[in-house]
Amino acid sequence: MADNCNLARVLGLFLVLTLFHNPITVAGQNIPAVALFTFGDSNFDAGNKQTLTKGNVAQGFWPYGKSRDDPNGKLSDGLIAPDFVAKFMGIPIEIPAALVPNVNVSRGASFAVADATLLGAPVESLTLNQQVRRFSQMKAANWNDDFIKKSVFLIYIGANDYLNFTKNNPKADASAQQAFVTSVTNKLKNDIGLLYSSGASKFVIQNLAPLGCLPIVRQDYNTGMEQCYEKLNDLAKQHNEKIGPMLNEMAKTTPGFQFTVFDFYNVIIRRTQRSMNFRTFITNSSCCGVGTHNAYGCGLPNVHSKLCEYQRSYLFFDGRHNTEKMQEMFGHLLFGADPNVIQPMNVREIVTYPVDEPMREYWVPQTSSATVQARDYSSSSSRGYEFY
Ligand SMILES: *[C@@H]1O[C@H](CO)[C@@H](O)[C@H](O)[C@H]1NC(C)=O
Ligand SMILES: *[C@@H]1O[C@H](CO)[C@@H](O)[C@H](O)[C@H]1NC(C)=O
Ligand SMILES: *[C@@H]1O[C@H](CO)[C@@H](O)[C@H](O)[C@H]1NC(C)=O
Repeated sequence: MADNCNLARVLGLFLVLTLFHNPITVAGQNIPAVALFTFGDSNFDAGNKQTLTKGNVAQGFWPYGKSRDDPNGKLSDGLIAPDFVAKFMGIPIEIPAALVPNVNVSRGASFAVADATLLGAPVESLTLNQQVRRFSQMKAANWNDDFIKKSVFLIYIGANDYLNFTKNNPKADASAQQAFVTSVTNKLKNDIGLLYSSGASKFVIQNLAPLGCLPIVRQDYNTGMEQCYEKLNDLAKQHNEKIGPMLNEMAKTTPGFQFTVFDFYNVIIRRTQRSMNFRTFITNSSCCGVGTHNAYGCGLPNVHSKLCEYQRSYLFFDGRHNTEKMQEMFGHLLFGADPNVIQPMNVREIVTYPVDEPMREYWVPQTSSATVQARDYSSSSSRGYEFY
C-alpha cells in the first residue's frame, strides 16, 4: 500500500515534469479527428524514397532512426517534425509513407520524397506536381471530401531546386536568379492550386531554411569557419518573400482557401546565431558524416562516417537534416507557436478554424520590431533559454 502511494507520487511528479517540459503543447485538446498530409522533399519523407528506389538508400541504415532502433527511411536520428505535429493533433498512429503498399492512411500520409523538386525531373523521386497527382489517385478509395477539407496539408519544397540551380549556374546574375525564383514560386502556386482543386483547403507552408547554412553546403562550397554560403541564403530569402503575398492573394480570391506560413528560415537562423541560448551548441557541422563539416555520407555502407556522441547538442544530424531533438522543437513550433514564428495561425488554430470561412487575418511581412518583441519575450522567460 505504502509502496503504491510512493509509486503514485513518483508518477505524479513525473507527469508534472513532463507537462513543464512541453510548455507550449497540450496534445489533442479539442482538435477534430482529421488527417495530416505532408508533401515535399527529404525533410518530410516518411519512407517513400526507400520504396521508390531500386538500390539501397542511406536512410535505410543505422545510424538513421537510431533513437528508435529503427532506420525506417526517415532522414533523422529518429522521428521527423510531422510525426510530432501528428501526435499533437491526437493522431494515434505514425503518418505512413503513401507509396508503401497496404499502409493505414486513415489519418493521413506522407507524399514527400527525398530529392523532390518543383521544377525538372528528379531522379527516383517525384516533383510536387506528381505527389499531388498521387494524392488525387488515392483519394476516392480512402478519404471523403468533407474529411479532406478539414484536414491539414503541410508542404516543404524548393530546397533541391535552388541547390541544383546554384550548382549548375554558379555565375547566375541577379536577374537570372530572380527569373528562377519566379518560375519556382509560380510552380508552387500552381501545385497548391491543384491540391485545392482536389479538395484540400487548409495549407501549412514551411518556408525555406537558410540553405547556405546547411553543413553540406558549407562543406561543398568551402565557406570556412562560421560562414554560411550567402548566395544560397539570398535565394531562399527571395523565395520566402514571395510566399506570404502569394498565399494572401490565393486566400482572397479562392473560396474557403486557408493557409499559414511557418518561418523556418528564421527558426534556423536564430538557432545558428544565438546557439547558446537555444542549447544547440553545434550548428555548423553535422552529427553524422565525413568531411570538413561531417556533412557527407551518413548511413552509406562504404563510408565510415563519424557519429557524434550527443545528438541533442547538434542542430543537424546529417549534412542537411536536423536531429530528432530539433524536429521535436519544430513540431512544437508548428503546432503552437506565436505569430512571430508561424502566421497568421498555428496548426492548432488552423485545424480548429471553421471550414469555408474566409480568414480573419492574413500574412504580414515581419517588421524588425516584431523580431525584437519576440526576443524580449523569450529572454524574460523563466526557462532561462529561448524557445522560439
Ligand atoms: C487505422 O488506424 C486507425 C487509427 O488512426 C484505426 O482506428 C483503424 O482501426 C486502423 N485500421 C486498420 C485497418 O488497422
Ligand atoms: C537541375 O538543373 C539542370 C540544369 O539546369 C536541369 O536540366 C535539371 O532538370 C535540374 N534537375 C532537377 C531535378 O531539377
Ligand atoms: C564551427 O564553429 C565553431 C565555433 O564558432 C568553430 O570553432 C569551428 O571551427 C567551426 N567548425 C567548422 C567545421 O567550421
